Amino acid sequence: MSKLDDIVSLCKRRGFIFPGSDIYGGFAGTWDFGPLGVMLKKNLTDAWWKCFVEDRDDIYGVDAAILMNPKTWEASGHTATFADPLVECKECKSRFRADKIADGITESVTTEEFLEKHVACPVCGKENWGPIRKFNMMFVTHVGAVLPDDDAETANKNIAYLRPETAQGIFTNFKNVVDTIYPNIPFGIAQQGKSFRNEISPRDFILRDRECSQMEIEYFVHPNTWEENFDKMLQLNHSFLEDVCGLDKAKLHDYDVPAEDRAHYSKRTIDFMFEYPNGEEELMGLAYRTDFDLNNIARESGKSMEYRDKNTGETYVPHVIEPSIGVERLFLAVLSTAYTEEELPNGEKRTVLKLPANLAPYKFCVSPLLKNKPELVDKAKEVYNNLRDKYTFVTWDDSGNIGKRYRKQDEIGTPKCIVIDFDTLEDDTVTIRDRDTTEQIRVPIAEL
Ligand code: GAP
Repeated sequence: MSKLDDIVSLCKRRGFIFPGSDIYGGFAGTWDFGPLGVMLKKNLTDAWWKCFVEDRDDIYGVDAAILMNPKTWEASGHTATFADPLVECKECKSRFRADKIADGITESVTTEEFLEKHVACPVCGKENWGPIRKFNMMFVTHVGAVLPDDDAETANKNIAYLRPETAQGIFTNFKNVVDTIYPNIPFGIAQQGKSFRNEISPRDFILRDRECSQMEIEYFVHPNTWEENFDKMLQLNHSFLEDVCGLDKAKLHDYDVPAEDRAHYSKRTIDFMFEYPNGEEELMGLAYRTDFDLNNIARESGKSMEYRDKNTGETYVPHVIEPSIGVERLFLAVLSTAYTEEELPNGEKRTVLKLPANLAPYKFCVSPLLKNKPELVDKAKEVYNNLRDKYTFVTWDDSGNIGKRYRKQDEIGTPKCIVIDFDTLEDDTVTIRDRDTTEQIRVPIAEL
Protein backbone atom coordinates (compact mmCIF):
# COMPACT_ATOMS: atom_id res chain seq x y z
CA MET A 1 0.00 0.00 0.00
CA SER A 2 1.22 3.53 -0.75
CA LYS A 3 1.29 6.22 1.95
CA LEU A 4 -1.77 7.80 0.31
CA ASP A 5 -3.64 4.46 0.57
CA ASP A 6 -2.69 4.31 4.26
CA ILE A 7 -4.05 7.82 4.81
CA VAL A 8 -7.29 7.04 2.93
CA SER A 9 -7.72 3.92 5.03
CA LEU A 10 -7.09 5.77 8.32
CA CYS A 11 -9.53 8.51 7.28
CA LYS A 12 -12.27 5.96 6.72
CA ARG A 13 -11.44 3.79 9.76
CA ARG A 14 -11.41 6.72 12.18
CA GLY A 15 -14.26 8.79 10.77
CA PHE A 16 -12.36 11.62 9.06
CA ILE A 17 -13.50 11.17 5.45
CA PHE A 18 -15.84 8.72 3.70
CA PRO A 19 -16.38 8.35 -0.06
CA GLY A 20 -19.38 10.49 -1.09
CA SER A 21 -22.64 8.48 -1.41
CA ASP A 22 -20.70 5.47 -0.10
CA ILE A 23 -23.86 3.46 0.54
CA TYR A 24 -24.76 3.59 -3.16
CA GLY A 25 -21.28 2.66 -4.35
CA GLY A 26 -19.87 6.21 -4.29
CA PHE A 27 -20.08 9.20 -6.62
CA ALA A 28 -16.81 10.13 -8.32
CA GLY A 29 -15.12 13.31 -7.17
CA THR A 30 -17.21 13.71 -4.01
CA TRP A 31 -16.23 13.04 -0.39
CA ASP A 32 -18.09 13.26 2.91
CA PHE A 33 -16.36 14.52 6.04
CA GLY A 34 -17.16 12.43 9.12
CA PRO A 35 -17.21 13.50 12.80
CA LEU A 36 -13.42 13.80 13.15
CA GLY A 37 -12.95 15.25 9.67
CA VAL A 38 -15.47 18.01 10.34
CA MET A 39 -13.54 18.99 13.46
CA LEU A 40 -10.15 19.11 11.74
CA LYS A 41 -11.63 20.94 8.74
CA LYS A 42 -13.30 23.50 11.00
CA ASN A 43 -10.05 24.02 12.89
CA LEU A 44 -8.31 24.71 9.57
CA THR A 45 -10.95 27.11 8.26
CA ASP A 46 -11.17 28.87 11.66
CA ALA A 47 -7.36 29.22 11.79
CA TRP A 48 -7.36 30.76 8.29
CA TRP A 49 -10.22 33.15 9.19
CA LYS A 50 -8.44 34.19 12.39
CA CYS A 51 -5.12 34.78 10.62
CA PHE A 52 -6.49 36.67 7.60
CA VAL A 53 -9.68 38.35 8.89
CA GLU A 54 -10.01 38.50 12.70
CA ASP A 55 -6.42 39.40 13.49
CA ARG A 56 -6.27 42.15 10.86
CA ASP A 57 -7.92 45.53 10.45
CA ASP A 58 -7.91 45.55 6.66
CA ILE A 59 -9.70 42.36 5.55
CA TYR A 60 -13.49 41.93 5.77
CA GLY A 61 -15.61 38.82 5.31
CA VAL A 62 -18.54 38.05 3.02
CA ASP A 63 -20.65 34.95 2.47
CA ALA A 64 -22.19 35.22 -0.98
CA ALA A 65 -24.77 32.96 -2.62
CA ILE A 66 -23.47 29.96 -4.55
CA LEU A 67 -26.01 30.51 -7.34
CA MET A 68 -25.19 33.78 -9.09
CA ASN A 69 -26.66 35.66 -12.02
CA PRO A 70 -25.19 33.96 -15.14
CA LYS A 71 -23.90 37.38 -16.28
CA THR A 72 -21.26 36.88 -13.58
CA TRP A 73 -19.64 34.08 -15.56
CA GLU A 74 -19.96 35.88 -18.90
CA ALA A 75 -18.21 38.91 -17.40
CA SER A 76 -15.50 36.89 -15.65
CA GLY A 77 -14.63 34.93 -18.79
CA HIS A 78 -15.51 31.57 -17.25
CA THR A 79 -18.22 30.76 -19.83
CA ALA A 80 -15.70 31.26 -22.63
CA THR A 81 -12.44 30.02 -21.15
CA PHE A 82 -12.86 27.93 -17.99
CA ALA A 83 -12.02 24.73 -19.84
CA ASP A 84 -9.60 21.82 -19.67
CA PRO A 85 -8.14 19.87 -22.64
CA LEU A 86 -10.29 16.74 -23.13
CA VAL A 87 -9.07 13.80 -25.19
CA GLU A 88 -11.02 10.64 -26.04
CA CYS A 89 -9.62 7.20 -26.82
CA LYS A 90 -11.29 6.07 -30.07
CA GLU A 91 -10.81 2.42 -29.14
CA CYS A 92 -12.40 2.18 -25.67
CA LYS A 93 -14.19 5.59 -25.57
CA SER A 94 -12.52 6.55 -22.25
CA ARG A 95 -12.11 10.30 -21.77
CA PHE A 96 -9.15 11.96 -20.07
CA ARG A 97 -7.71 15.33 -19.21
CA ALA A 98 -4.88 15.37 -21.74
CA ASP A 99 -2.37 17.16 -19.51
CA LYS A 100 -2.82 14.64 -16.69
CA ILE A 101 -2.10 11.33 -18.43
CA ALA A 102 1.55 11.85 -19.37
CA ASP A 103 4.45 14.04 -18.33
CA GLY A 104 5.46 17.13 -20.28
CA ILE A 105 1.94 18.04 -21.51
CA THR A 106 0.50 21.43 -20.56
CA GLU A 107 -3.09 22.69 -20.37
CA SER A 108 -2.63 24.52 -23.66
CA VAL A 109 -1.57 21.37 -25.58
CA THR A 110 -2.73 21.10 -29.22
CA THR A 111 -3.86 17.88 -30.93
CA GLU A 112 -0.58 17.74 -32.93
CA GLU A 113 1.60 18.20 -29.84
CA PHE A 114 -0.39 15.53 -27.97
CA LEU A 115 -0.09 12.97 -30.81
CA GLU A 116 3.68 13.58 -31.02
CA LYS A 117 4.01 12.34 -27.41
CA HIS A 118 2.75 8.84 -28.35
CA VAL A 119 0.71 8.40 -25.18
CA ALA A 120 -0.88 4.98 -24.58
CA CYS A 121 -4.48 4.96 -23.32
CA PRO A 122 -4.32 4.31 -19.54
CA VAL A 123 -7.39 2.02 -19.86
CA CYS A 124 -6.91 -0.10 -23.02
CA GLY A 125 -3.22 0.57 -23.77
CA LYS A 126 -3.92 1.50 -27.44
CA GLU A 127 -2.75 4.70 -29.11
CA ASN A 128 -5.73 5.87 -31.16
CA TRP A 129 -6.82 9.33 -30.05
CA GLY A 130 -9.47 11.78 -31.15
CA PRO A 131 -8.74 15.54 -31.30
CA ILE A 132 -8.13 17.65 -28.19
CA ARG A 133 -11.36 19.47 -27.30
CA LYS A 134 -11.92 22.20 -24.74
CA PHE A 135 -14.30 21.02 -22.01
CA ASN A 136 -15.94 23.74 -19.88
CA MET A 137 -15.85 22.65 -16.24
CA MET A 138 -18.78 24.64 -14.92
CA PHE A 139 -21.75 22.59 -13.69
CA VAL A 140 -24.92 23.73 -15.44
CA THR A 141 -28.28 23.76 -13.71
CA HIS A 142 -31.67 25.35 -14.30
CA VAL A 143 -33.33 27.72 -11.89
CA GLY A 144 -37.07 28.03 -11.49
CA ALA A 145 -39.82 25.90 -12.98
CA VAL A 146 -38.15 24.28 -15.98
CA LEU A 147 -39.74 21.04 -17.23
CA PRO A 148 -38.03 18.25 -19.19
CA ASP A 149 -40.32 18.85 -22.20
CA ASP A 150 -39.70 22.64 -22.32
CA ASP A 151 -38.20 23.83 -25.61
CA ALA A 152 -34.49 24.63 -25.71
CA GLU A 153 -35.09 28.39 -25.68
CA THR A 154 -37.11 28.27 -22.42
CA ALA A 155 -34.58 25.92 -20.81
CA ASN A 156 -31.58 28.03 -21.91
CA LYS A 157 -33.16 31.20 -20.51
CA ASN A 158 -33.11 29.57 -17.08
CA ILE A 159 -29.57 28.26 -17.13
CA ALA A 160 -27.41 28.95 -14.09
CA TYR A 161 -24.05 27.59 -12.97
CA LEU A 162 -22.76 26.27 -9.68
CA ARG A 163 -19.95 28.71 -8.92
CA PRO A 164 -16.51 27.39 -9.98
CA GLU A 165 -14.71 29.85 -7.65
CA THR A 166 -15.82 31.85 -4.62
CA ALA A 167 -13.91 34.88 -5.96
CA GLN A 168 -16.75 36.23 -8.10
CA GLY A 169 -19.00 36.46 -5.02
CA ILE A 170 -16.35 38.83 -3.66
CA PHE A 171 -15.84 40.94 -6.79
CA THR A 172 -19.59 41.41 -7.27
CA ASN A 173 -19.82 42.70 -3.69
CA PHE A 174 -16.87 45.10 -4.02
CA LYS A 175 -19.14 48.13 -4.39
CA ASN A 176 -21.45 47.01 -1.57
CA VAL A 177 -18.50 46.71 0.81
CA VAL A 178 -16.94 50.03 -0.25
CA ASP A 179 -20.30 51.82 0.12
CA THR A 180 -21.00 50.38 3.58
CA ILE A 181 -17.59 49.99 5.28
CA TYR A 182 -15.66 52.85 3.55
CA PRO A 183 -12.35 50.97 3.80
CA ASN A 184 -9.00 52.62 3.11
CA ILE A 185 -6.99 51.03 0.37
CA PRO A 186 -5.27 48.57 0.50
CA PHE A 187 -8.04 46.37 1.87
CA GLY A 188 -9.27 42.85 1.27
CA ILE A 189 -12.50 40.88 1.15
CA ALA A 190 -12.38 37.24 2.22
CA GLN A 191 -14.74 34.35 1.64
CA GLN A 192 -14.84 30.67 2.48
CA GLY A 193 -17.28 28.33 0.76
CA LYS A 194 -18.07 25.61 -1.73
CA SER A 195 -16.96 25.66 -5.35
CA PHE A 196 -17.90 23.17 -8.04
CA ARG A 197 -15.88 21.94 -11.00
CA ASN A 198 -16.87 19.17 -13.34
CA GLU A 199 -13.35 17.73 -13.35
CA ILE A 200 -12.72 15.31 -16.23
CA SER A 201 -10.62 13.05 -14.00
CA PRO A 202 -11.11 13.58 -10.25
CA ARG A 203 -8.24 11.81 -8.50
CA ASP A 204 -5.77 11.40 -5.65
CA PHE A 205 -8.36 11.17 -2.87
CA ILE A 206 -9.50 14.72 -1.95
CA LEU A 207 -6.90 16.49 -4.10
CA ARG A 208 -9.02 16.95 -7.22
CA ASP A 209 -12.73 16.94 -6.41
CA ARG A 210 -15.87 17.91 -8.28
CA GLU A 211 -17.12 19.70 -5.17
CA CYS A 212 -14.53 21.46 -3.03
CA SER A 213 -14.25 24.33 -0.53
CA GLN A 214 -12.14 27.37 -1.21
CA MET A 215 -10.76 30.12 1.03
CA GLU A 216 -10.07 33.20 -1.06
CA ILE A 217 -9.14 36.83 -0.55
CA GLU A 218 -9.36 39.60 -3.09
CA TYR A 219 -6.91 42.23 -1.83
CA PHE A 220 -7.57 45.58 -3.50
CA VAL A 221 -4.51 47.79 -4.01
CA HIS A 222 -3.39 50.92 -5.83
CA PRO A 223 -2.04 49.77 -9.24
CA ASN A 224 1.42 51.20 -8.43
CA THR A 225 1.75 49.07 -5.32
CA TRP A 226 0.78 45.65 -6.64
CA GLU A 227 4.30 44.22 -6.48
CA GLU A 228 4.95 45.07 -2.83
CA ASN A 229 1.48 43.80 -1.85
CA PHE A 230 2.03 40.62 -3.86
CA ASP A 231 5.27 39.98 -1.94
CA LYS A 232 3.58 40.66 1.41
CA MET A 233 0.78 38.18 0.59
CA LEU A 234 3.37 35.62 -0.47
CA GLN A 235 5.14 35.87 2.90
CA LEU A 236 1.89 35.93 4.86
CA ASN A 237 0.62 32.77 3.19
CA HIS A 238 3.91 30.97 3.73
CA SER A 239 3.76 31.88 7.39
CA PHE A 240 0.14 30.61 7.65
CA LEU A 241 1.02 27.30 6.00
CA GLU A 242 4.26 26.73 7.89
CA ASP A 243 3.68 28.28 11.34
CA VAL A 244 -0.08 27.74 11.80
CA CYS A 245 -0.65 24.56 9.78
CA GLY A 246 2.74 23.00 10.52
CA LEU A 247 3.62 22.20 6.90
CA ASP A 248 7.22 21.28 6.26
CA LYS A 249 9.00 24.24 4.60
CA ALA A 250 11.18 21.83 2.64
CA LYS A 251 8.09 20.31 0.98
CA LEU A 252 6.61 23.66 -0.14
CA HIS A 253 7.89 25.16 -3.37
CA ASP A 254 6.98 28.41 -5.12
CA TYR A 255 6.37 27.98 -8.83
CA ASP A 256 6.29 31.17 -10.90
CA VAL A 257 3.74 30.12 -13.55
CA PRO A 258 4.80 31.04 -17.11
CA ALA A 259 2.46 33.35 -19.05
CA GLU A 260 1.13 30.61 -21.37
CA ASP A 261 -0.04 28.48 -18.40
CA ARG A 262 -1.57 31.26 -16.30
CA ALA A 263 -5.35 31.64 -15.90
CA HIS A 264 -6.92 34.09 -18.37
CA TYR A 265 -7.19 36.82 -15.70
CA SER A 266 -3.65 36.72 -14.29
CA LYS A 267 -0.55 38.80 -15.05
CA ARG A 268 1.51 36.94 -12.44
CA THR A 269 0.82 33.72 -10.56
CA ILE A 270 2.83 31.85 -7.99
CA ASP A 271 1.57 28.37 -7.32
CA PHE A 272 2.49 26.96 -3.92
CA MET A 273 3.43 23.40 -4.81
CA PHE A 274 3.42 20.77 -2.08
CA GLU A 275 5.07 17.36 -2.07
CA TYR A 276 2.02 15.15 -1.48
CA PRO A 277 2.52 11.39 -1.01
CA ASN A 278 1.69 10.79 -4.71
CA GLY A 279 3.89 13.62 -6.01
CA GLU A 280 4.09 17.38 -6.16
CA GLU A 281 0.78 19.22 -6.75
CA GLU A 282 -0.60 22.74 -6.47
CA LEU A 283 -1.74 23.46 -2.91
CA MET A 284 -2.72 27.08 -3.49
CA GLY A 285 -2.31 29.93 -5.92
CA LEU A 286 -1.39 33.58 -5.51
CA ALA A 287 -2.47 35.64 -8.52
CA TYR A 288 -2.19 39.25 -9.62
CA ARG A 289 -5.61 39.68 -11.27
CA THR A 290 -5.02 43.36 -12.17
CA ASP A 291 -8.30 45.30 -12.67
CA PHE A 292 -9.56 42.54 -14.98
CA ASP A 293 -12.58 41.52 -12.89
CA LEU A 294 -13.72 44.95 -11.70
CA ASN A 295 -13.52 46.31 -15.25
CA ASN A 296 -15.51 43.36 -16.60
CA ILE A 297 -18.18 43.88 -13.93
CA ALA A 298 -18.34 47.62 -14.72
CA ARG A 299 -18.82 46.82 -18.42
CA GLU A 300 -21.45 44.10 -17.86
CA SER A 301 -23.41 45.92 -15.13
CA GLY A 302 -22.98 49.51 -16.30
CA LYS A 303 -21.96 50.49 -12.74
CA SER A 304 -18.70 52.21 -11.91
CA MET A 305 -16.15 50.17 -9.96
CA GLU A 306 -13.93 53.16 -9.30
CA TYR A 307 -12.56 53.81 -5.84
CA ARG A 308 -11.99 57.35 -4.59
CA ASP A 309 -9.07 57.80 -2.21
CA LYS A 310 -10.31 59.85 0.78
CA ASN A 311 -6.89 61.37 1.43
CA THR A 312 -5.63 62.19 -2.05
CA GLY A 313 -8.94 62.44 -3.94
CA GLU A 314 -7.49 60.17 -6.65
CA THR A 315 -10.09 58.02 -8.40
CA TYR A 316 -9.17 54.69 -10.01
CA VAL A 317 -10.19 51.05 -10.44
CA PRO A 318 -8.17 49.09 -7.86
CA HIS A 319 -5.96 46.18 -8.85
CA VAL A 320 -6.22 42.85 -7.09
CA ILE A 321 -3.91 40.33 -5.42
CA GLU A 322 -5.66 37.01 -4.85
CA PRO A 323 -4.52 34.20 -2.55
CA SER A 324 -6.75 31.16 -3.15
CA ILE A 325 -6.52 27.85 -1.34
CA GLY A 326 -8.62 24.69 -1.41
CA VAL A 327 -9.60 23.41 2.03
CA GLU A 328 -9.36 19.77 0.93
CA ARG A 329 -5.85 20.27 -0.48
CA LEU A 330 -4.78 21.93 2.76
CA PHE A 331 -6.43 19.13 4.74
CA LEU A 332 -4.49 16.51 2.76
CA ALA A 333 -1.22 18.45 3.10
CA VAL A 334 -1.71 18.66 6.89
CA LEU A 335 -2.66 14.96 7.12
CA SER A 336 0.27 13.78 5.03
CA THR A 337 2.66 15.88 7.12
CA ALA A 338 1.21 14.52 10.37
CA TYR A 339 0.86 10.86 9.33
CA THR A 340 3.68 8.83 10.88
CA GLU A 341 4.29 5.12 11.33
CA GLU A 342 6.89 4.29 13.96
CA GLU A 343 8.21 1.64 16.30
CA LEU A 344 8.06 2.33 20.02
CA PRO A 345 10.99 1.46 22.38
CA ASN A 346 9.07 -1.69 23.42
CA GLY A 347 9.05 -2.88 19.81
CA GLU A 348 5.34 -2.14 19.29
CA LYS A 349 4.37 -0.46 15.99
CA ARG A 350 2.02 2.46 15.97
CA THR A 351 0.43 4.94 13.56
CA VAL A 352 0.26 8.46 14.89
CA LEU A 353 -1.08 11.73 13.52
CA LYS A 354 1.38 14.33 14.79
CA LEU A 355 -1.02 17.21 14.18
CA PRO A 356 -0.25 20.67 15.56
CA ALA A 357 -2.24 20.91 18.83
CA ASN A 358 -4.28 23.86 17.50
CA LEU A 359 -5.60 21.69 14.64
CA ALA A 360 -6.14 18.35 16.42
CA PRO A 361 -9.85 17.39 16.64
CA TYR A 362 -9.46 16.69 20.38
CA LYS A 363 -6.84 18.27 22.62
CA PHE A 364 -7.36 15.85 25.54
CA CYS A 365 -8.75 12.39 26.08
CA VAL A 366 -9.86 11.41 29.61
CA SER A 367 -10.11 7.74 30.67
CA PRO A 368 -10.50 5.67 33.80
CA LEU A 369 -7.72 3.05 33.96
CA LEU A 370 -10.37 0.33 34.34
CA LYS A 371 -13.94 0.77 33.22
CA ASN A 372 -15.38 -1.84 35.60
CA LYS A 373 -14.33 0.07 38.75
CA PRO A 374 -17.12 2.58 39.52
CA GLU A 375 -14.89 4.66 41.81
CA LEU A 376 -12.38 5.21 38.96
CA VAL A 377 -15.15 5.93 36.43
CA ASP A 378 -16.81 8.46 38.77
CA LYS A 379 -13.55 10.28 39.41
CA ALA A 380 -12.68 10.25 35.70
CA LYS A 381 -16.12 11.65 34.84
CA GLU A 382 -15.57 14.46 37.32
CA VAL A 383 -12.20 15.33 35.71
CA TYR A 384 -13.75 15.06 32.22
CA ASN A 385 -16.68 17.36 33.07
CA ASN A 386 -14.39 19.96 34.67
CA LEU A 387 -12.09 19.95 31.64
CA ARG A 388 -15.03 20.23 29.26
CA ASP A 389 -16.15 23.34 31.09
CA LYS A 390 -12.74 24.88 30.39
CA TYR A 391 -11.98 23.50 26.90
CA THR A 392 -14.35 22.43 24.14
CA PHE A 393 -12.17 19.76 22.62
CA VAL A 394 -12.11 17.01 25.20
CA THR A 395 -13.10 13.41 24.51
CA TRP A 396 -13.96 10.48 26.76
CA ASP A 397 -12.66 6.99 26.07
CA ASP A 398 -13.23 3.89 28.20
CA SER A 399 -13.21 1.32 25.39
CA GLY A 400 -10.85 -1.69 25.38
CA ASN A 401 -7.69 -1.64 27.46
CA ILE A 402 -5.46 1.38 28.03
CA GLY A 403 -2.98 0.31 25.31
CA LYS A 404 -5.75 0.16 22.70
CA ARG A 405 -7.05 3.56 23.78
CA TYR A 406 -3.59 5.09 23.33
CA ARG A 407 -3.36 3.54 19.83
CA LYS A 408 -6.75 4.99 18.91
CA GLN A 409 -5.99 8.47 20.28
CA ASP A 410 -2.59 8.39 18.50
CA GLU A 411 -4.37 7.66 15.23
CA ILE A 412 -6.76 10.59 15.60
CA GLY A 413 -3.97 12.92 16.76
CA THR A 414 -5.04 13.67 20.36
CA PRO A 415 -1.99 15.40 21.91
CA LYS A 416 -2.61 14.43 25.58
CA CYS A 417 -4.27 11.42 27.23
CA ILE A 418 -5.25 11.82 30.89
CA VAL A 419 -5.70 8.62 32.90
CA ILE A 420 -7.36 8.30 36.29
CA ASP A 421 -6.03 5.35 38.33
CA PHE A 422 -6.06 4.13 41.96
CA ASP A 423 -3.37 6.65 42.97
CA THR A 424 -5.71 9.43 41.80
CA LEU A 425 -8.17 8.41 44.50
CA GLU A 426 -5.39 8.78 47.11
CA ASP A 427 -3.51 11.91 46.01
CA ASP A 428 -5.64 13.68 43.40
CA THR A 429 -3.00 13.35 40.69
CA VAL A 430 -3.44 11.94 37.18
CA THR A 431 -1.15 10.51 34.48
CA ILE A 432 -0.73 12.62 31.37
CA ARG A 433 0.69 10.81 28.35
CA ASP A 434 2.21 12.80 25.52
CA ARG A 435 1.20 11.66 22.01
CA ASP A 436 4.53 12.34 20.30
CA THR A 437 7.06 11.20 22.93
CA THR A 438 4.72 8.67 24.69
CA GLU A 439 6.24 9.96 27.95
CA GLN A 440 4.00 9.94 30.99
CA ILE A 441 4.06 12.43 33.86
CA ARG A 442 2.06 12.74 37.06
CA VAL A 443 0.20 16.04 37.50
CA PRO A 444 -2.18 17.28 40.28
CA ILE A 445 -5.77 17.60 39.00
CA ALA A 446 -5.79 21.20 40.21
CA GLU A 447 -3.07 22.01 37.63
CA LEU A 448 -4.89 20.59 34.59
N1 GAP B 1 -10.15 32.12 -7.76
C1 GAP B 1 -8.98 31.53 -8.27
C2 GAP B 1 -9.08 30.10 -8.42
O1 GAP B 1 -10.12 29.50 -8.22
P1 GAP B 1 -7.65 27.97 -9.02
O2 GAP B 1 -6.17 27.83 -9.18
O3 GAP B 1 -8.50 27.44 -10.09
O4 GAP B 1 -7.89 29.52 -8.80
C3 GAP B 1 -7.54 27.80 -6.44
O5 GAP B 1 -8.08 27.32 -7.64
C4 GAP B 1 -7.32 26.67 -5.46
O6 GAP B 1 -8.53 25.94 -5.28
C5 GAP B 1 -6.31 25.62 -5.93
O7 GAP B 1 -4.98 26.03 -5.66
C6 GAP B 1 -6.72 24.43 -5.10
O8 GAP B 1 -6.21 24.53 -3.79
C7 GAP B 1 -8.24 24.57 -5.05
N2 GAP B 1 -8.89 23.75 -6.07
C8 GAP B 1 -9.13 24.08 -7.35
N3 GAP B 1 -9.75 23.08 -7.99
C9 GAP B 1 -9.90 22.08 -7.10
C10 GAP B 1 -10.47 20.77 -7.16
N4 GAP B 1 -11.03 20.31 -8.27
N5 GAP B 1 -10.45 20.01 -6.04
C11 GAP B 1 -9.88 20.48 -4.90
N6 GAP B 1 -9.34 21.71 -4.79
C12 GAP B 1 -9.34 22.50 -5.88
